[in-house]
Amino acid sequence: MKEQTFSEWLDALKSKANIVDVVAGYVPLTSKGGRYWACCPFHHEKTPSFSVDEQRQAFYCFGCHVGGDVIKFVMDIENTDFMSACKLLSQKVGLPMPEFKSRSKGENLGKKKERLYEMMKQAGRFYYKCLEGEGGKAAKEYLAKRGISKDTAVTFGIGYSPDYNALPAHLKQLGYNEVEMIEAGVCAQKDGRVYDVMAGRLIVPIIDGMHRVIAFGGRVLTSEKQMKYRNTNDTILFNKKCEVFGQDTLKKYKMKNPVTSVIMVEGYMDVISLYQAGVRNVVASMGTALNVKQAEIVKKYSDTVYVCYDGDTAGQAATLRSLDIFYGAGLNVKVVSLPDNLDPDEYVNQRGVESFAAQLAKALPLFEYKLRTLAKGYDMKVAEEQGKFVVEAVKIVKELPTPAQVDAYIPIVAKLSGLGTDTVRRQLMQESEFSEDGAKLLTQPQKRKDGKYYKAMRFVLYALYGGVEDLSFDKDISLYCEDEDHKKLYDDYRKNADSELSVDDLMALEKEIPEAAEVLAAGRIVNEKVAKAYFYDCVKALENEFVKRQRKSLLKAYGESGSEEEKTQILAQMSNNQKKK
Ligand code: UTP
Ligand code: MN
Repeated sequence: MKEQTFSEWLDALKSKANIVDVVAGYVPLTSKGGRYWACCPFHHEKTPSFSVDEQRQAFYCFGCHVGGDVIKFVMDIENTDFMSACKLLSQKVGLPMPEFKSRSKGENLGKKKERLYEMMKQAGRFYYKCLEGEGGKAAKEYLAKRGISKDTAVTFGIGYSPDYNALPAHLKQLGYNEVEMIEAGVCAQKDGRVYDVMAGRLIVPIIDGMHRVIAFGGRVLTSEKQMKYRNTNDTILFNKKCEVFGQDTLKKYKMKNPVTSVIMVEGYMDVISLYQAGVRNVVASMGTALNVKQAEIVKKYSDTVYVCYDGDTAGQAATLRSLDIFYGAGLNVKVVSLPDNLDPDEYVNQRGVESFAAQLAKALPLFEYKLRTLAKGYDMKVAEEQGKFVVEAVKIVKELPTPAQVDAYIPIVAKLSGLGTDTVRRQLMQESEFSEDGAKLLTQPQKRKDGKYYKAMRFVLYALYGGVEDLSFDKDISLYCEDEDHKKLYDDYRKNADSELSVDDLMALEKEIPEAAEVLAAGRIVNEKVAKAYFYDCVKALENEFVKRQRKSLLKAYGESGSEEEKTQILAQMSNNQKKK
């Protein structure tokens, strides 16, 4: 029998997974006028504008304009990528995904990761059992002392690591080898012995948006000199800078409740205590410093973020940078300042959840927070300091996206400084390079890049990185790279051409270079048979785009040039390019 291709299987999957049934598994649907309707699961609303069309097997929201087929729906609602959505669907409808002939090393990596995910799950279970067991007494007492209930501990899968040896012995019994334990970061090796890096610690599993255990945070039970928290090192499953703690619980919460904002805190315990107190739209950045990726995760759940960092870190450089990163990701940022240097965990335990809610209600919009923080550095009783403050304050205010918003802040600056609004306004006028466009760019999330160039270049890079077999191509096409990220990927490829780069390497670059993900995705649209021909088509298309771009810039230079001699030169160059083409 002829082997089924991936796209044939995909067709079978789509015909088996009726979109109406799939959607109904997430949101209740009502039938009206030949369509099905619901309140949109992707934005908050009270009257249904989300519709499902059974005949076309498509969904569309008239409110927020998201739409697509059944796979797109699963990708959106599960916040996941294409392949994982396929896998989820295949499980839902009972159409197992066959093992497609490994087309690239990338797929082997996929298998390896899957084994490690399973191992991490087993490790988590083991720790959990250890907490329940005889040896977990001290850890349980510690939890009780911190007011964490049994239910909460179960929700977060909290566990305990009794010693150096128990976990590796257990995993070995389950058939995992030492290389795998080290690769997943649960063990390390010293003097010929593999040991549990979390020995003696309380364990908090870090679970991603796909409900997979990807790492652990381990806290010491006593306040000895040891490092308070130890986290799993970065691995192929986990990159601390790019993850948030609590995404799993947030996602489950969002399935049943409208989430109109996300609260970002610093630590594991802050998430856990708030959750227990009933505040469930909360995640932690696992430290003060924030990464764009973490902001993007938050953005998937809501457009508004309440940043609620520890009292003692407010106003510090790392905190201020984090706020800007949220703002840059297109989020509406509010800043909560808890009094008396308390962290959210301490605050909610000592003063209760109503009081915490009151603090949230008092949160300052980002710009007001920045201005107030700035004002603390000046003594407004001194005239000179007032003036200096206004100069700096105006620099903040002019970053606001609209003139109306800038106007709204003038009285605030005036009040903080003790000077009149006229003075502030005059200072604003003086800030000459007041650029509306620049400020706008900052507030809007980047649009997905698309078009001929992107389509072609992504596939070319994918092919060069080993996605297309037996390709021999050594022309230097660096000039064709229009996008900085492509240039980086291409340079990397050129540098390593001898040692053969692979799709694995590309995957590893995904976290550093966002375009790498798009490049990987480009590989999915073409089947093996036509891949090579398609590659050469793409190169040709890139060449055309390049020539077009060059002509445009020559034309521009021609238009701007004042000297006849230069103009002649430009014309010659243009006709030369024409010939080459
Ligand atoms: P905190 O020290 O504020 O954590 O660090 P916490 O949650 O309040 O700790 P408790 O209440 O004493 O248990 C915030 C976060 O920074 C990371 C952890 O993710 C922690 O939750 N961190 C902190 C580390 O990774 N290592 C450390 O040594 C300390
Ligand atoms: Mn704390």
